[in-house]
Amino acid sequence: MAESTTSTSSIPSVMKAAQQSNCGEIRNVLTLRDDVPVPRKLSAKQILVRVHAASINPVDWKLLNGNLSLVIHPSFPHIPGADVAGVVVDIGSGVKRFQIGDKVYGNLGVYAGGYAEYACGNESMFALKPKNLTMEEAAAVPLACETSYQALFNKISPPVGAGSKIFICGGSTATGFFAIQLAKAVGAQVATTCSQRNFQLLKKLGYTITENKDEINNDQQQQLLVIDYNEKDFGQELKGQNYDVVYDCVGGEQQWISAQQILKQGGQFITIVGDDTKSVVSLKSIATIGSSIINRKFWSVFSSTHHGYILHFLSQTPEDLDDIRTNYIETDKVKPLIDTVYDWRKDGVEALHLLYEKSKSGKAQGKLILKIADEE
Ligand SMILES: NC(=O)c1ccc[n+]([C@@H]2O[C@H](COP(=O)([O-])OP(=O)(O)OC[C@H]3O[C@@H](n4cnc5c(N)ncnc54)[C@H](OP(=O)(O)O)[C@@H]3O)[C@@H](O)[C@H]2O)c1
Repeated sequence: MAESTTSTSSIPSVMKAAQQSNCGEIRNVLTLRDDVPVPRKLSAKQILVRVHAASINPVDWKLLNGNLSLVIHPSFPHIPGADVAGVVVDIGSGVKRFQIGDKVYGNLGVYAGGYAEYACGNESMFALKPKNLTMEEAAAVPLACETSYQALFNKISPPVGAGSKIFICGGSTATGFFAIQLAKAVGAQVATTCSQRNFQLLKKLGYTITENKDEINNDQQQQLLVIDYNEKDFGQELKGQNYDVVYDCVGGEQQWISAQQILKQGGQFITIVGDDTKSVVSLKSIATIGSSIINRKFWSVFSSTHHGYILHFLSQTPEDLDDIRTNYIETDKVKPLIDTVYDWRKDGVEALHLLYEKSKSGKAQGKLILKIADEE
């Protein structure tokens, strides 16, 4: 751990922070204020972090829109934003894992608070920041990378490992490009869907792209089979190829339909989105999702193919963020890709609005970052 370098007396009483006044359209409900109280009262297990950078995930605009308000309802005004990287500036009396001055990254969860100069959260939401990443790069990692880490290594049984054949729907999504790297790091054979415009993005990870399944050489770990989803259906293209796992980072019923054509008998389909790509939670959608999951799980037992169906949601686990740091990021096996860094010190509230709008467009080419403070 780092030496204590920051005095708690230098923490101001107010800060700049995003303020969400209600659920609704981005530009109607999201403002930026510079008189928001800094959360100074920490419970025993909480830490206060000077936030240097934050990132956005689709769940942030889904929450802002109110898509999830049946199950998650913050009180307003609310500070959104879950993924952060920064420096610990104060700790609660029972904090064991950190001390003042530590550089950390973490995910504050659905009640958020990250788009602010200071954010507090339970110490279990954080881990030490990877040494080889900048604050902006570190903020790009927690939610997306941990979701894919858990899907591949904790939820799938047996976990994805050496020799596994995995197909990833949406290789250019943040969860998708982390999954490609995690799977490659453990020696799996990986194929993915990605539009032509994003082939270049995957090449930035050091992969050689091939669109022809017959060109795949299992000895070449840097080779990546890519299906342009605008041109071809991956189910038809790879029919009968006996994949162990299909990991869906895109959503929609078609991913499940296509997956069944390529999975081996007993292969597993794991999705982090489900059939509804907008994730609008209503009583009707809960009933529809519930019945389709029951239906798919029933057929996973009683059909001849026994294809497993898993709907996966991230659970915040500090050990996972530690493992991602030490065994994947600091060993250069996994890295984040960044699309744009928005800076509210230069562009004010427009930086926030653009951050949300780009994420909501579904066209991000890497993570979208909010820069909040310079690195010391
Ligand atoms: N369950 C969980 O715990 C959990 C956790 C994290 C994320 N998620 C969900 O997972 C989804 C992905 O999140 P993310 O942050 O990884 O996404 P993202 O980075 O915002 O995804 C953007 C990328 O998706 C690509 N894309 C869009 N439609 C596609 C399609 N039909 N096939 C292949 N690629 C497509 C876009 O490229 P082109 O359109 O140019 O091809 C773009 O590059 C979201 O719905 C999110 O809410 C769930």
